[in-house]
Amino acid sequence: MVISEAENFGFVQNSLHLKFYLKYHIMSVHIAAKKGEIAKTVLQPGDPLRAKYIADNFLNEVKLVSQTRNIFYYTGIYKGKEISVGASGMGIPSIGIYSFELFTEYEVDTIIRIGTCGAYTSDLKLFDLLNVENSASESTYAKHAWGIEGELIKNQGNAFGLINETAKALSLDIQPTNIHTSDIFYRKEEGIPAIATKYNCSAVEMEAFALFANAQYLGKNAATILTVSDIIPTREQISADQREKALKPMIELALETALQF
Ligand code: HPA
Repeated sequence: MVISEAENFGFVQNSLHLKFYLKYHIMSVHIAAKKGEIAKTVLQPGDPLRAKYIADNFLNEVKLVSQTRNIFYYTGIYKGKEISVGASGMGIPSIGIYSFELFTEYEVDTIIRIGTCGAYTSDLKLFDLLNVENSASESTYAKHAWGIEGELIKNQGNAFGLINETAKALSLDIQPTNIHTSDIFYRKEEGIPAIATKYNCSAVEMEAFALFANAQYLGKNAATILTVSDIIPTREQISADQREKALKPMIELALETALQF
């Protein structure tokens, strides 16, 4: 059933209908969870199956709260705290949609993206952990969505600092760094794109810029933790079967950080 804005308002005002409305109709365009089914802190990998892996292996009392487009969202308990985990999909447009709906429709306060990246330098090694300080991008997303000018957007709020502190407490090495958020995975030219050199970006991924832009516009917390999965100059890669185990320290770091919100 499609409900117009005006009818929506009517339902909310009329308490007889409120229960019905809450049960069946408060969900967002791309996430089917009802209001209240998503925690205030969300871990966001790119891949829906990674979200499932985290839910299955790290959370208790797990509930699958959305599977629209096979982009799974789960809510469960980690060490007594309610946490949600759900995918962003790949690229700026996709994380732009999911993170916006989480922040605005579900009153999420903090999103920690947990992803992989390609290192631009062989100073980084496979499995290294990065905490993104700033994202540089050629993308016009921030400008056209929110009027945010400039090629560089900072992580938002206190999540970045808490990740560094939590890593220290867990004796995990993590490097604060600028990264390049690119719209392009395959390209003609080899070599490091100019924007990455300009902003001293050690690695490339495809989502952080839009997450940070949404959070900046909405006044929310957003951080991005990355595991190096590729070394671009040497073409080294984490193999498919190494990936699951390789991401464990990043998942634990994100979950332990989430306990502090
Ligand atoms: N490019 C963009 N995103 C990535 C890469 C890459 O090489 N590796 C992992 N995520």
